[in-house]
Amino acid sequence: MRVLGLETSCDETAVALYTTDAGLVGHAVYSQVDVHAEWGGVVPELASRDHARQLTPLLSRFLHEQGTSLDSLDAIAYTRGPGLIGPLLVGGMFAQALGYALSVPTLGVHHVEGHLLAPLLEQPAPNFPYLALMVSGGHTQIVDVRALGEYQILGESLDDAAGEAFDKTAKIMGLAYPGGALLAQLAQAGRAGQFKFTRPMQGRADLDMSFSGLKTAAAQAWRACDQSAQAQADLALAFELAMVDALVSKCAEALSMTGRTCLVVAGGVGANTRLRQALAQLAAQCGASVAYPRPEFCTDNAAMIALVGHHRLSRGERSTPAPMAVARWSIEDLRPPA
Ligand code: KG4
Ligand code: ZN
Repeated sequence: MRVLGLETSCDETAVALYTTDAGLVGHAVYSQVDVHAEWGGVVPELASRDHARQLTPLLSRFLHEQGTSLDSLDAIAYTRGPGLIGPLLVGGMFAQALGYALSVPTLGVHHVEGHLLAPLLEQPAPNFPYLALMVSGGHTQIVDVRALGEYQILGESLDDAAGEAFDKTAKIMGLAYPGGALLAQLAQAGRAGQFKFTRPMQGRADLDMSFSGLKTAAAQAWRACDQSAQAQADLALAFELAMVDALVSKCAEALSMTGRTCLVVAGGVGANTRLRQALAQLAAQCGASVAYPRPEFCTDNAAMIALVGHHRLSRGERSTPAPMAVARWSIEDLRPPA
């Protein structure tokens, strides 16, 4: 079975081809980051229009580069949600029109299920069950991944997502959007102990997280300091350390609570070096392993959508419930393929 994957849930337009024989054949991503940079965040209407503009040329170029054509496809998987409704509708309508024209099935896929299963694109792939730390600009969750379609959210951020807190704090300090990686880079020149932030939600019995208080504390500290380059680096470091501590301590609790021995990190914040080091240390301490999909599969991509689509379609799933796109959708509502 040859499955085309399409991803348009936020500000990346992406296509991929996944086949039963070869696994992932290839994928391509067009990032809209330049479209949104001057506004300091993603503008949904601009995102929708850019997806509509980019999808056809991106797919034509991709199929040409892969030496294949639309006729060779057996099915189309697209991101049904969660995400920005306009961008999702552009992808959904494109996918369904293409499926109709080619007389092949179309399946709407859950974006976060894609992130959770992205490690299966790597060799060796982790075996079920495993824990996943999902940390992106839109999601921060610790999920027990038991099998395809069987997910339990063990804890999640009650307010800002981790990446969102990184980006908002970076913006307050005058860094360009999206500032998470820039803030992490600045933190390398920071001196520990110049600023101190309480670790949010520590000592609680549950695995929920909260980052908006930390962001506000960082904003207040920034306004009160001399805003020199050194202060900026010191503050970036203090913020990053507090974020990493908060995430790692919840992962530690999740590992000990569930007895799982494999932790997978997904989403853009998974690129953070300090987080990776701290998680490696944690894994070593508790005899667990920690795995990361390569960076291009951590951030938004269609390879993970094509993989989920392939696995569900090849187990007989065919129908996407109406509506074709949904902005909000919990992974706990998913079921294994019938
Ligand atoms: O998964 P992703 O590419 O997109 C979605 O949010 O869906 O994640 C992007 C997020 C942004 O908030 C970005 O600032 C953050 O990941 N990010 C980082 C780093 N690299 C990207 N945050 C902290 N440190 C990094 N090195
Ligand atoms: Zn994502």
